[in-house]
Amino acid sequence: MEHEHRRWNLSEDARLRSQVRHSRGCEPQSTRTPMHSTQLTINGRRETVNADIRTTLLDALRENLNLTGTKKGCDQGQCGACTVIVNGRRINSCLSLVASHEGDDVVTVEGLADGEALSPLQRAFVTHDAFQCGYCTPGQLCSATALLKEIEAGEPSVVSNGEIILSEEEIRERMSGNLCRCGAYNNIVDAIVEAAAQGGEAAR
Ligand code: FES
Ligand code: FES
Repeated sequence: MEHEHRRWNLSEDARLRSQVRHSRGCEPQSTRTPMHSTQLTINGRRETVNADIRTTLLDALRENLNLTGTKKGCDQGQCGACTVIVNGRRINSCLSLVASHEGDDVVTVEGLADGEALSPLQRAFVTHDAFQCGYCTPGQLCSATALLKEIEAGEPSVVSNGEIILSEEEIRERMSGNLCRCGAYNNIVDAIVEAAAQGGEAAR
């Protein structure tokens, strides 16, 4: 009997503590959504993203900023559909929290064209039929745009052997993080070769 009485007191104590916490506005943290405000530049525009601190850059682009060109494939860093360019480097936006991009400069597929004028790489993708369903194409384009800049900067890959030549092997290695379920790989390589032949403008 005494034991039951003690048990009641303990549960009542917990209930009262909860009430006090609630009335003071200090509920346990697990019941709150931790929000964060991040300022960054996206395709040349200053943007502020107010989002749950656990939001990925990919979800912030698609859900908060309505930039749905960047695609979600695997959502775990394995397909490259979500590739965007951050401060000149390509990254998988599904693996990166938007809160970690304070002050960063982000380019998505929507930022590759100059108004109505497609970039040389985009034109080459059209010319060479480098897509079928097109789901992977935004990621392929962002990845290839950054790839051409890496080549210009003389950055080697694992298959580079001394002088960096934009060979088919080099392109395939550097684009290996971007999967295409339609198998448009040969045409993608051809498009990149053509864009590269146009020099620095291609990597705009
Ligand atoms: S969605 Fe990011 S790598 Fe697949
Ligand atoms: S064009 Fe369909 S997945 Fe690449």
